[in-house]
Amino acid sequence: MSKIMDGKLVSQKVRNEIKDEVSRLGIKPHLAVVIVGTDAASQTYVNNKHKACHDVGFQSTKIELPAQTTEEELLQVIDKLNADKGVHGILVQLPLPKHIKESVVLEAIDQEKDVDGFHPYQVGLLATGLDGFKPCTAAGVIEILKHYEVPMEGSHAVIVGRSHIVGKPLIQLLLDENATVTVAHSRTKDLASVTKLADIVIVAVGIPGILTADMVKEGAVVVDVGINRLDTGKLVGDVDFEPVMEKASLITPVPGGVGPMTITMLLANTLKSAKKVK
Ligand code: GUN
Repeated sequence: MSKIMDGKLVSQKVRNEIKDEVSRLGIKPHLAVVIVGTDAASQTYVNNKHKACHDVGFQSTKIELPAQTTEEELLQVIDKLNADKGVHGILVQLPLPKHIKESVVLEAIDQEKDVDGFHPYQVGLLATGLDGFKPCTAAGVIEILKHYEVPMEGSHAVIVGRSHIVGKPLIQLLLDENATVTVAHSRTKDLASVTKLADIVIVAVGIPGILTADMVKEGAVVVDVGINRLDTGKLVGDVDFEPVMEKASLITPVPGGVGPMTITMLLANTLKSAKKVK
């Protein structure tokens, strides 16, 4: 049996379900994506989001602003999108240029349209177990684990990385699945001694190959959230893939693992928002 958890396959299944639901909905969910500057990776992500929206029958608006856009100008754009009843989801692509304060921008987004789930209000809903928009990459990890019927209840899940985008929301989502959760990060002493205890290890730090085979228990489930472009142009994750696959019972590849799930969960959140206002 293949050990690969195929994010493209799971993603396609969920996108087909979304497409079906949209065709019966009577309105087109509308996502607005704002990008500031010309960062190549961000441009690619935004274009992929735009395309995914069209593939499932959503409306999608891409707002491209120059790198020198001021915080004030960006906030004005967000205000307009907040006020536009035809827009169901707003996403500001991160990272932003250094002169713009990320927290100010994220807090300016209408909570009800925050399909990224990054607004402090949404973070609060997640932390208190209330229904809201779950951050897309973290939600994608759970979706992929559920698809492959990985038992989470009672399992020891080790998250490597504590970002607001992935690591922290995963703590809550894994607790909701009744996993025992440990969080490791860049200051963790003897990382291997922690990861070796994991039934499920999720790596989201952005360092190519940081998780090596000696750090993984035989039969563990390994989820690689990293997306790193090497100087050679090759795209790799945070996991030393081939040797770790030898020991793992299941593993996500890069590309084709968690990556496609992020956009899929964004579509799911936008659909959820559109259904609320319908
Ligand atoms: N940049 C990298 N990942 C993300 C994401 O999930 N949402 C936004 N808005 N920006 C990102």
